[in-house]
Amino acid sequence: MRDINQFTITEAVKQSFKTEEGSRLKFLLETFIDHLHDYTREVNLTHEEWMGILMFLYDCGKISTPERHEFILLSDVLGFSALVDMINTRGGQTEGSNLGPFYLDDAPRFALGGDLGGGRDGAVLLVQGQVRDSLGNPIAGAVIDTWQTDSAGTYPIQEQASGQDKYDLRGIFTTGEDGKYWYTTVLPKPYTVPYDGPVGRLLRAGNRHAWRASHLHYIVRAPGYRPITTELFFDNTDYLDNDAVFGVRRSLITKLEPVKKTDSLPPTDKVPNARCSFDFVLAPEG
Ligand SMILES: [Fe+2]
Repeated sequence: MRDINQFTITEAVKQSFKTEEGSRLKFLLETFIDHLHDYTREVNLTHEEWMGILMFLYDCGKISTPERHEFILLSDVLGFSALVDMINTRGGQTEGSNLGPFYLDDAPRFALGGDLGGGRDGAVLLVQGQVRDSLGNPIAGAVIDTWQTDSAGTYPIQEQASGQDKYDLRGIFTTGEDGKYWYTTVLPKPYTVPYDGPVGRLLRAGNRHAWRASHLHYIVRAPGYRPITTELFFDNTDYLDNDAVFGVRRSLITKLEPVKKTDSLPPTDKVPNARCSFDFVLAPEG
């Protein structure tokens, strides 16, 4: 009979999995077990603490719905999401940033120059720029999928109980031959990540706030290129230095400017009074 103790159990657990030699799954699993067991030994985890962790994860699952992803939020506030984004950003491409918990993969499509705001309160913001490759060539037909809060810092998807449409303030645009895109929307505001659940308890336990710097979310795709998931921040917003989910990168901050009469602007359905510009750079697949 094998003799398992607190020092030999790690190897025994690893050997119990009959995963393919040299496979990625074997590597991921064994490294995870190593770190999990090392952590447990290092902190001398008590039964109460062990059960506390398991119940915390149970609570994260219990509060999750197709429209509330508590595990993504947990990953975000632990910097896990940001770390994955960072190590998967290729040199030359736009830096990645948080997907967040509010993405829907079937947003409505808009023509260039369209307005996402739909008559909502707030400054009318023109967002414009270009999608290009790392050599500076424009990418025609790139798909820009965006979503954001309103001018009060709320995602409509969070307010369905009060009659808001979950597809509001989100849309898909396609770049023209010159790779350019432009549209109007309302200027978003900082907001708190949901803190009425287990992740909120974690933040409070760590004396942390739940605020995010105001931002626009993007997924940008084009055939033959690696898709990017990222966020665009404004230079005048609060929480750039202490965003609750560690999403801010220097390269993702854009200058927010008032529109002047002398500005030459692309045609839009709605007249903007503020503007910002950002170019997305995609790296080839593979
Ligand atoms: Fe967000």
